[in-house]
Amino acid sequence: MMKPLAQLIREIPKAELHCHIEGTLEPELMFELAQKNNIQLPYATPQDVRKAYHFTDLQSFLDIYYQAASVLCTEQDFYDLTWAYLLKAKVDNVCHTEIFFDPQTHTARGIPFAVIVNGITHALTDAKQKLNITSHLIMCFLRHLSEEAAFDTLNQGLPYKDKIIAVGLDSGERGNPPEKFKNVFQEAIKHGFLTVAHAGEEGPAENIWNSLRLLKAKRIEHGVHCTMDPSLIAYLKEHQIPLTVCPLSNVKLRVIDELKNHNLKTLLRQGLCITLNSDDAAYFGGYVVDNFLASAEQLNLNAEDIVQLAKNSIQASFIDETLKATYLRMISMVAQKFL
Ligand code: HPA
Ligand code: ZN
Repeated sequence: MMKPLAQLIREIPKAELHCHIEGTLEPELMFELAQKNNIQLPYATPQDVRKAYHFTDLQSFLDIYYQAASVLCTEQDFYDLTWAYLLKAKVDNVCHTEIFFDPQTHTARGIPFAVIVNGITHALTDAKQKLNITSHLIMCFLRHLSEEAAFDTLNQGLPYKDKIIAVGLDSGERGNPPEKFKNVFQEAIKHGFLTVAHAGEEGPAENIWNSLRLLKAKRIEHGVHCTMDPSLIAYLKEHQIPLTVCPLSNVKLRVIDELKNHNLKTLLRQGLCITLNSDDAAYFGGYVVDNFLASAEQLNLNAEDIVQLAKNSIQASFIDETLKATYLRMISMVAQKFL
């Protein structure tokens, strides 16, 4: 790759909109926390953990991922996890991040909701002051569990409404369509939460439609299977519904065979609001800049594509128009050195 393009990718300010904070748990920190909290891991070393990261589909990843999250016990653990991610985000020139967390993964183990949210938000507050990174927090419901369990999670989240901007939907998409969570999303909206949803990752275009219609999703996570329905592509373009695409994740979880066959470039050049994100960086081989670099190389993205992806990430975020304008100006200033 031409050196200036890699430099542009690193330097350009960008927002990350699809990052599961539990998915940024690097094996070294996993071991450190396991030892501290007296939790037995089925691996001998961090290197052994990395060797186990061969996935055949989404579920094969989720099985390992939920198990690893059991090392997170105290408020400090959630702080350390989040802070480690934020330091990486800073290196990648992420100016704004909207991170997901899965309360049910932790409350099911007896970790209080307050411990999780307070640990994460403390790190996010420090990031604003010390790293100049702004952020929002999104609470996801695990879709392999019941809607009743999601209602319970929503109720636990209500006292933290000022710290959580949106609710989302993650975990296994197969067999757990958006319509299963229609009522709880309706209730969340009544309480003032925005909504997003994973859809069209392993599931069909119909799941994207239903996430938009029934869950009122403002953004679609992944959404790569929109290509199955031309009328959906037209709708996503017309309404500029953002897709938070995660290229390295899609390869690792075999949503696509090879990155060079990813549809993100075609969709981007068709004028859809495509953004690039890391999903679960510690598991899928890289943070947001790694996703940009790999995509640029495998898909021959040019400088205009990179600048458009960065602008899209700001437009697709849940920040106010004033801050959007500030970040877009910062992007233009860096872009003019390269275009
Ligand atoms: N899809 C669904 N659930 C998830 C993912 C994903 O890519 N990552 C973490 N939880
Ligand atoms: Zn995801």
